Amino acid sequence: MNPSRRTLISRAIATLALSALSALPALAQGLPKLKVGLMLPYTGTYAALGNAIENGFRLHITEQGGKLAGREIEFVKVDDESDPSKATDNVNKLIKRDNVDVLIGSVHSGVAMAMAKVAKDTGTVLIVPNAGADAVTGPMCASNIFRSSFSNWQPGYAMGEVVAKKGHKKVVTITWKYAAGDESIRGFKESFEKAGGKVVKELTLPFPNVEFQALLTEIAAAKPDAVYTFFAGGGAVKFVKDYAAAGLKKTVPLYGAGFLTDGTLDAQGADAADLLTTLHYADSLNTPRDNAFRLLYAKTYKLQPDVYAVQGYDAAQMLAVGLNAVKGDMGKKAEFTAAIEKAKIDSPRGPFTLSKSHNPVQDIYLRQVGGKENKLVNIASKALADPGRGCKL
Ligand code: BEZ
Repeated sequence: MNPSRRTLISRAIATLALSALSALPALAQGLPKLKVGLMLPYTGTYAALGNAIENGFRLHITEQGGKLAGREIEFVKVDDESDPSKATDNVNKLIKRDNVDVLIGSVHSGVAMAMAKVAKDTGTVLIVPNAGADAVTGPMCASNIFRSSFSNWQPGYAMGEVVAKKGHKKVVTITWKYAAGDESIRGFKESFEKAGGKVVKELTLPFPNVEFQALLTEIAAAKPDAVYTFFAGGGAVKFVKDYAAAGLKKTVPLYGAGFLTDGTLDAQGADAADLLTTLHYADSLNTPRDNAFRLLYAKTYKLQPDVYAVQGYDAAQMLAVGLNAVKGDMGKKAEFTAAIEKAKIDSPRGPFTLSKSHNPVQDIYLRQVGGKENKLVNIASKALADPGRGCKL
């Protein structure tokens, strides 16, 4: 072959290769792995919740072929032990030592508030896959902070309306003394008292204490029409069992934010039978989207999913929406944020959008325990938006 013909052919090959390359997303042309910092509880009363969130998160990535927007994912994991006093150090290590691109965490409201402070100060993207701390999408809100779960106010507010409609007038509340418990009770009280009810006693114990006996004796003595509670994880299992053992289940109806019976029914057994709770997920939604999710989750992990698994899955979906919009380049913060803000997330719980302060606007379901499931009763509150009090976005 003469030299000029050879040059022409190699130029044509080079041009073809270049145009094929530019047809690929930018990320496939050499963006490094995306470092995801998973800061979740893997020990303690919320350990099962952390594991379910990670399972859900990984499931969506697996569905996408192991990559988001073409970028491979590398996980850096920290057990935050649901301990707010260690949270600032833990999150700083993820950002400064491990150089994570995005933070996913956490379960406990106190830990999440510490994460939100550091995320806001450093501009690191944070997606909260559980913790309901009202402040995260209230006074602490920021353009780089998103939540795939709920605010503590949401299930509480929905249940206040349900309990009032049942005709109960005098309610005692019981919870752990920290943001999640306080805010769940506040949400309940807001709607319950607006509807004419009265919270006559607010009982608390420190997190994660489970010595309920003295408080159960106080409930029996107060003889309220009903009890409203926030407990979750291992503490919820013990509370439901102790409530029944104290003989209260037969005399004082127990209502709760849905965490009371989510992911806990195997351990609670008959003591949880028929309990009514409010939450943004139920085990029997029976939509094609939820059925497909539940089947895939059960096949992958040999476990039934719960609300925490859904929230983890949706955190990954939200991250994917942002990343796809910027072709994997997380430096394009404004476009990343705008894409998530205008997205409709196709969640197993039902589609949701984000409020101005980046909290899901979602249906809150009334559920009743039947066998090993939180069965859908009805929609207690349609498209309930957290008021986002104090958020300036
Ligand atoms: C919280 O701390 O915000 C929380 C923990 C477990 C379940 C729900 C909320």
